[in-house]
Formats: sequence, C-alpha cells, structure tokens
Amino acid sequence: MKKFLRITLILSLMGASHLYADQYSALYAGGDPIAGKSLLQKNCISCHASSFGGDGSAIYTRENRLVKTSRGLKAQVRNCNTMLGLKWFEDEELHVASYLNQTYYRFEK
Ligand code: HEC
Repeated sequence: MKKFLRITLILSLMGASHLYADQYSALYAGGDPIAGKSLLQKNCISCHASSFGGDGSAIYTRENRLVKTSRGLKAQVRNCNTMLGLKWFEDEELHVASYLNQTYYRFEK
C-alpha cells in the first residue's frame, strides 16, 4: 500500500511538471533559446556589460528590474530591436525573449 502511494505521488508530480512545461512552451512557442543566445551576445550584451559590469546579465536580475512578465519581456526585446535598428523579424525577437526567460527571468506567465 505504501509503495502504491509513493508511486501515485511520483506520477502526480510528473504530471505537474508536464503541465508547467506545456504552459512554458505555449508562452514562447516557436522560440529557440540557443539561437536567441547568440543573437543577444552579438547585438545586445556589450552595452549592458558596460553599464552593469561582468557579462551584463545583472541588468536582468537586479532588484528593481523593469521587466515583470513575459508580455513585458517580449515588449522590451521589441523596443530594443527597434531602438537599435536591428530589423529583427518577429521570430528572432521570440528567440531572444525565450532565451532571456529560460535563463534569467523564469516567468510562468
Ligand atoms: C546602447 C545600449 C544598449 C543596447 C545595445 C541594448 N540595451 Fe537593453 N538596456 C539598456 C539599458 C540602459 C537598459 C536599462 C534601462 C533602464 O534601467 O531604464 C536596458 C534594459 C534592457 C532590458 C530590461 C532589463 C530589466 O530591467 O528587466 C532588457 C530585457 C534588454 N535591455 C534587452 C536588450 C536586448 C534584447 C538588446 C539587443 C537587441 C539590448 N537590450 C540592447 C541598454 C542597451
């Protein structure tokens, strides 16, 4: 009986993480974090690094960071793209947003 309960618990935990993964991939469906990382490294990081030091990633993890939701993250990536005149396509913005979320922000919505 004990064993049965333990297996039930494990199965339900697996179910929960599966739900999380589904929700996550729905928010960033089509986003490729690996492509996003290289786009970000090429175009974005040097400026953040010069004001925040190191690899610049402190800008995403600082206490009073600007971005609070996935929607805000996508909007911020778009603003930077526009401001810098990079002419990224929508899928490139999504790659970068999905990398930033997976690595730093970890928003679930
Ligand atoms: C010319 C300098 C510069 C470049 C290039 C730049 N950024 Fe930024 N970025 C900033 C500054 C400055 C801020 C902080 C603005 C503030 O605190 O008001 C910022 C903030 C951000 C934030 C929000 C951080 C937070 O507080 O949560 C994100 C996300 C971001 N940038 C992404 C990008 C992306 C993606 C690119 C490349 C397309 C990029 N940035 C290129 C200067 C730059």
